[in-house]
Amino acid sequence: MKRIGMLTSGGDCQALNAAMRGVVKCLSCSGEDVEIYGFLDGYKGLIYGDFRMLTGHDFAGILTKGGTILGSSRTPFKLMREPDENGLDKVEAMKQNYYKLKLDCMVILGGNGTHKTANLLREEGLNVITLPKTIDNDLWGTDMTFGFQSAVNIATDCIDCIHTTASSHARIFIVEVMGHKVGWLTLNAGMAGGADIILIPEIPYDINKVIKAINEREARGSRFTIMAVAEGAISKDDAKLSKKEYKKKMENYTYPSVSYEIADKIRKKSGKDVRVTVPGHTQRGGSPCPYDRVFATRLGAEAGKLILKGEYGFMVGYKNREVVKVSLEDVAGKLKMVSPDATIVKEAKMVGISFGD
Ligand code: F6P
Repeated sequence: MKRIGMLTSGGDCQALNAAMRGVVKCLSCSGEDVEIYGFLDGYKGLIYGDFRMLTGHDFAGILTKGGTILGSSRTPFKLMREPDENGLDKVEAMKQNYYKLKLDCMVILGGNGTHKTANLLREEGLNVITLPKTIDNDLWGTDMTFGFQSAVNIATDCIDCIHTTASSHARIFIVEVMGHKVGWLTLNAGMAGGADIILIPEIPYDINKVIKAINEREARGSRFTIMAVAEGAISKDDAKLSKKEYKKKMENYTYPSVSYEIADKIRKKSGKDVRVTVPGHTQRGGSPCPYDRVFATRLGAEAGKLILKGEYGFMVGYKNREVVKVSLEDVAGKLKMVSPDATIVKEAKMVGISFGD
């Protein structure tokens, strides 16, 4: 008999349900008796002992369902060591609930912050297996996270829709894509949608270079320009500021988001007509795409296999087209960012995409 705890933490994404279903199906197909304890709303559920016993029925029919049947929440890693408003020691509380239920292991699905806490629980002696979810694809140790391809599809659809209206009007269109710290989603959706300019956090932009790229397009006879801009796109000037100076600047920030600031600068400097579209959380919503359904099922199955073998302390990731186990200690606290020298960036530039750098 295996007693498995499960939780989904951080921002949700498509294929969380598919991944959990993969774990449970693998365990039940092995003939092993399993009890599944689903903790609700992320680490909160484990801290406050808020769980539901789940059976195979709960995992039936959820392969195609977005969101998470367990609910999710953000519990920042930096607050984990701080007592809650009633003085509760959160880490001790999680350990006590784990031991009280006599769990064999926790299966934790999440992104960067989630992995830091998962590693903390491992250091505290709990058996932990994690699965890499996030539309940002920024988790170190895996070439791919589930949710990413589904979000690329949605952001690309958005750019495709803008394309037809852009071609009717002689305007600049900005599509703001999710990703505060990393630009994988913007880069991929931008390339897939045929964006002319892509701005990502890892490659600070110069607004004059952006306008130059627009003017060059116009000189070649293009009536419109489409820009894919990451939520965290940053100008070269702002990138030079210290963390403290940048934080201070942002305290007096009056734009709803960076895209509106960029649009305003383009308007003021060039007199051009600019429109901003923000697909926002639609990028995390809806059904997982077929790639994510397969991918999450594979990772879930491999997680189930590790549990059956009693191998803990790993994230199940994907490297060089193989599903692999990566030590949690190595994963925790590292971001996988787009290198400005990455081949994909060079190739994008080769086909005329400007990064405003
Ligand atoms: O989960 C990742 C992510 O979707 C980022 O791309 C985005 O910047 C952020 O979460 C949004 O967070 P929230 O849902 O908390 O507003």
